Amino acid sequence: MIGLFDSGIGGLTVVRELLRQAPDASFVYLGDTARTPYGNKSKETIERYSLENAAFLLSHGATSIVIACNTASALAVDALRKAYPTVPIFEVITPAVEDALAATHGRVGVIATRATIGSGIYQAKLKEARSWKLEAGKGKQGLFIQAIACPLFVPLVEEGWLNDDETKRIARRYLSSLRQTHVDTLILGCTHYPLLAPIIQRFMGKQTMLVDSAASVIRRVLASGEIDRRGEQKYFLTDLSTRSTEIARTWLAREIVFALASVSA
Ligand code: DGL
Repeated sequence: MIGLFDSGIGGLTVVRELLRQAPDASFVYLGDTARTPYGNKSKETIERYSLENAAFLLSHGATSIVIACNTASALAVDALRKAYPTVPIFEVITPAVEDALAATHGRVGVIATRATIGSGIYQAKLKEARSWKLEAGKGKQGLFIQAIACPLFVPLVEEGWLNDDETKRIARRYLSSLRQTHVDTLILGCTHYPLLAPIIQRFMGKQTMLVDSAASVIRRVLASGEIDRRGEQKYFLTDLSTRSTEIARTWLAREIVFALASVSA
């Protein structure tokens, strides 16, 4: 059974892809809504929360872990792999970088939480790949990379303000410089952001391709064979709110019943 976790409901964007690609997959989802957001916390805290989340999922039948959160993927993947060396652990950053490189003409933007941008992982992976791209003769000039932290997006999504004027104004403020530099490809480097994709796309314009790594991370999970198809699907949150249930219902187009999770070391 696949175990997925996020700091909140953002990881449901990955669950939606899982349900699209394998509707009968068994999985257990944990959204750490009691402690969200992760994106403005320290590496130590993000590691601790991620280890606790993984322990919860494993104790509820998970045999593999999908870190459905860029922040935890950026800062806690090593700690998770060290703690669980025999458990397949999938992160979302490498697939996002690969998808962006396949799409771009040379100008890539990344938006993510402060912790993810501060870790420099996207910038480093894109730069690594740039030399690969140059060697492969795919690019004549260097890759232009612009990374912007958008710390207010996660609370706005958790609050369900997906199409509000305030959200549009904040998006304009965060994204203006990316529009000015004409990035042709924009990585949504946080699993919450696909919920804001209509606003982001409208502001950036049709010529900017948005990259959401959910589809490619799920393709990797399915290709690994780490899946059982008994259709057992469980959803947990560390704090229950009707808003989360409403957003999940709209996003997944089905009735979701969340159980309360008690997560600790
Ligand atoms: N969905 C998480 C991510 O992908 C959000 C992190 C947060 O809670 O700030 O980064």
